[in-house]
Amino acid sequence: MRLADDEKAMLDGSEGPARQKAMELLVRYGEALGAERLVDTRNVCGTMGATMPFLRDYAAAHGGRLDAVFSEFSLDSPEVLEIPKVKVYSCHLQQGLDPEHAAQQGIPPQAVQVYRDGEAYFGRLGVQLMNTCTPYQVGNVPVKGEHCAWMESSAVVYCNSVLGARTNTEGRESAGAAMLTGKIPYWGYHLDGNRLGTHLVELAIEVKDTADWGLLGYWVGEAVQDRIPVLSGVGEIPNLARLKHFGASASSSGGVEMYHVVGVTPEARTREEAFGGRKPCAALRYGAAERRIAYERVNSTGRDRDVDYVMLGCPHYSLEQIWEVCQLLEGQRIHGNCSLWIFTPWATKQLADRNGYTRIIEDAGGFLMTDTCSSVGRVLPKGTKVAAVDSAKQAHYLPAIMGVQAWFGTTAECIQAAITGRWQGGLQ
Ligand code: F3S
Repeated sequence: MRLADDEKAMLDGSEGPARQKAMELLVRYGEALGAERLVDTRNVCGTMGATMPFLRDYAAAHGGRLDAVFSEFSLDSPEVLEIPKVKVYSCHLQQGLDPEHAAQQGIPPQAVQVYRDGEAYFGRLGVQLMNTCTPYQVGNVPVKGEHCAWMESSAVVYCNSVLGARTNTEGRESAGAAMLTGKIPYWGYHLDGNRLGTHLVELAIEVKDTADWGLLGYWVGEAVQDRIPVLSGVGEIPNLARLKHFGASASSSGGVEMYHVVGVTPEARTREEAFGGRKPCAALRYGAAERRIAYERVNSTGRDRDVDYVMLGCPHYSLEQIWEVCQLLEGQRIHGNCSLWIFTPWATKQLADRNGYTRIIEDAGGFLMTDTCSSVGRVLPKGTKVAAVDSAKQAHYLPAIMGVQAWFGTTAECIQAAITGRWQGGLQ
């Protein structure tokens, strides 16, 4: 790989051993990928904390030292290095627990202490403690063309597709190295030619609500796998929540990291622009039959209709989604055999607190939680066997990770399940 002078200097150790290790890692990574060079990035989103049990154990075995965790798990260095402040704007993604709801989540106090120590440590390094899978909802909104180094599949697909910024799906190591160097391999979605559509998806039915966009994403992801779908025939312009759910689903059932919606997303003003003048390698049609297939797939684990857990907020809910839930929930009471947990970025929760939404949710018997989710944190209300979700991504992962059944439906159906304790959803 060709290296610029500043990159060579970091590799030679001129900025200390941690940045040297980070450059070594990026060079190894870039060469394995066939990248010709690195590119400057000023926007990194990654995870570095030690809230997952095996990371807590590693920290404990090293006297609680978080630089040991960063050295081993972000820089691939068994030798404990002194970690300098991050070089570029860097945000922390979701963590493994919500410190304010540790009791409900069954998290031991020692784990909360590790979390607090981690926040203090990474805060001192200059990491922005957003603690969410949706950094773009709380102020990290890169502009079109900006080179980023983001982890988290639902964030990556949003970044590429909706914002028109450029990122591959980085890992904990490459994101950690990018924070210290401001560099990332220049390959994949950083390059113009790799961002063009491959598959045309003609919509033959109206895609109505957020759950419907999730179903569409689930079907498209299975159909195109890790290629780039171009949606054509979209009626009403989808809002943030709909595009967020579409991308999260498509990246779960397949490996979609970028999509185009003709007339909506920034690199698809026209169909020709989306395909860069090339012919699509396949043309697909999404109609009522395909929608039903997706619905049945997403609901394939749901059997028992008694629901004991309703989880909303995958990806983390926006304020608008919390507001919508509150309109459905105000004055109601969650069923005695059911729990309602809603996940959102903690910055959004501050607004929800001030708007009175947290109070509405809590008065109904639910919780507005932050920083994590049931799949990532592996946190469920005690005894959960059957969950209901309005996210196809969560319906995909929760049964696999936590061994529970999951029903998928609209937000209104989920709230109805929370109130009645029964799943009464169905495809409309
Ligand atoms: Fe976010 Fe968890 Fe879903 S981290 S995208 S809420 S699986």
